[in-house]
Order: sequence, then structure tokens, then C-alpha cells
Amino acid sequence: MSETFNPFSLEGKTILVTGASSGIGRSIAIVASKMGATVVITARNQERLEQTLSQMSEGSHKIISADVTATEDIDKISTETPALDGIVHCAGVGRRLPLKMVQEKDVEFAMATNFKAPVLLQRTLLKKKKVHPGASIVFIASRAPFAPTVGNGLYAASKGAIIAYAKVLGLELSNQLIRVNCICPAMVWTDLVQRDAEVNGVDYHELEKSYPLKRYGQPSDVANLTVYLLSDASCWMTGSCIDITGGASSL
Ligand SMILES: NC(=O)c1ccc[n+]([C@@H]2O[C@H](COP(=O)([O-])OP(=O)(O)OC[C@H]3O[C@@H](n4cnc5c(N)ncnc54)[C@H](OP(=O)(O)O)[C@@H]3O)[C@@H](O)[C@H]2O)c1
Repeated sequence: MSETFNPFSLEGKTILVTGASSGIGRSIAIVASKMGATVVITARNQERLEQTLSQMSEGSHKIISADVTATEDIDKISTETPALDGIVHCAGVGRRLPLKMVQEKDVEFAMATNFKAPVLLQRTLLKKKKVHPGASIVFIASRAPFAPTVGNGLYAASKGAIIAYAKVLGLELSNQLIRVNCICPAMVWTDLVQRDAEVNGVDYHELEKSYPLKRYGQPSDVANLTVYLLSDASCWMTGSCIDITGGASSL
């Protein structure tokens, strides 16, 4: 009998996922393990990382609890991780604020996690030779830079910055056939959105009906696209930004 055809398999690949204690990152870790990958999961909350691990397929997976905004923790991740075939930069924060209210600490908060942390972690992994030639790097960015909404300026700017950075990174790593792509989701049901709804009193259950596919995304919707970018099926893709929006980007 012939082997099952599966160009999306992650068998034999070791993948690092940041932000894996919750939402989209958790789902990526779970789905990647089910696709055959060995997954290194990181975030600050050890207990929630263990909950993620409990939902993953069996394998030699690893937990590294770390704060990606701390230099010593970036060193810890890049020292403790084995060499990688894939990296998913998913850790992120969002906090709406009218731009006339912005203080220096708010700029630092958004940029520290959404821009500076992935940039410095990626630099350190490369310097420590933890990225195999032919690897795939994925940034979970956002539609926010292209779809302005009130109060979302700092978040949108931090995601726009990482998209610009990723395109140059892809160019610089192309001689090693390392691919770099961004995923730009519209609204996805996670704790980040629930917190936003509570703090700002927004009824997202009502708003999601305006999406052409009549719903916001689920973390697994983004995870499945991430698997494609991590797999050899996407071996001719680099420097891309892929929207995943339930049709919202066409509105
Ligand atoms: N949900 C959406 O609608 C949406 C849309 C577009 C893009 N995104 C992006 O998707 C990514 C995941 O977001 P989510 O919606 O899944 O939110 P979430 O459920 O709040 O998850 C955020 C993750 O980031 C981690 N994290 C935050 N700060 C960290 C830090 N300093 N160090 C290490 N880990 C940190 C959190 O872990 P700990 O708290 O355990 O550290 C958690 O695992 C983010 O980059 C977000 O911007 C989300």
C-alpha cells in the first residue's frame, strides 16, 4: 500500500511556539504536535503551559517558562531550545487606548512584547545557531495595521512594525533557504478579545455578525494556516503576509 499523501506533515520537525499558554499560540502548539512535530512551548505561565502540553499529541515536547520581554529569558529560551525547523512568534498583547491619552509606558508596553521581543529572540536564536537551514519562521501579526479601529493605534503600529521587519528578515535569510512569513488575522475568539470586550464594554458577539462568514475566527483557524507555513508545502513562500479574516478584509 502506498504511503498517505500529506504535504502538510510536520514529522521530523522541531518547532518553537511563543505565547503557547493561551489562545492562538496554544492551538498552534496542539495542532503542530498532531501533525507530527516536536514542539517547544514558551510563555510566562507554567501552569497554563502544562495545560497546553496535556492537550498535545505525545512526543518529546518541552516547556520553557519565560518572559519574552526579559533579556535573561530570551537567553534562557535560546539556550534551552534544541535546533529548530520552525519558529512561531505568537506572544502578544493588546490594549485599546485613545491616542490623545497615550503615555510613554503605553508605547513601551505595546512595542516591548509585539515588536522588540520577537526581534531580539529571533536575533539570539540565529546567533546561537538554533535555526536550521530551510527552516520556516512565522510571525502572528494582525490585520490591525490595514484596518484602523478607534483606540487600536499602538497595537496596529507594533504589528505594522513586525510585518516590515519580517520582510527584511526573509530577504536576509533567503541564502540559507530560511523562509519568513506573517499571518494577519482579523478578530479571533481568545482571552485577548474577551479582555478587550470587558474593559471597553464592546459586544463582539453582535459585531461578529457583520463578518461575511458570520463569525470571528477560532484559534484553530489560524493554527491550520500556520501548519501550512511551517510545512514543506509552502516551500516557495517567503516575505508574504497572509490575511485570515472570515472575509472581513474584503469589507
Ligand atoms: N485574538 C485576536 O483577535 C488576534 C487577532 C490578530 C492577531 N492576534 C495576535 O495573536 C497572538 C496571540 O494572541 P491571542 O489572541 O491568542 O491572545 P492571548 O490568548 O491573550 O495569548 C497571548 C499569549 O502571549 C503570551 N505573552 C504575553 N506577554 C508575554 C510575555 N511578556 N512573555 C511571554 N509570553 C507572553 C501569553 O502568555 P503568558 O501570559 O503565560 O505569558 C499568551 O500565551 C498575539 O500576537 C496577538 O496580537 C490576535
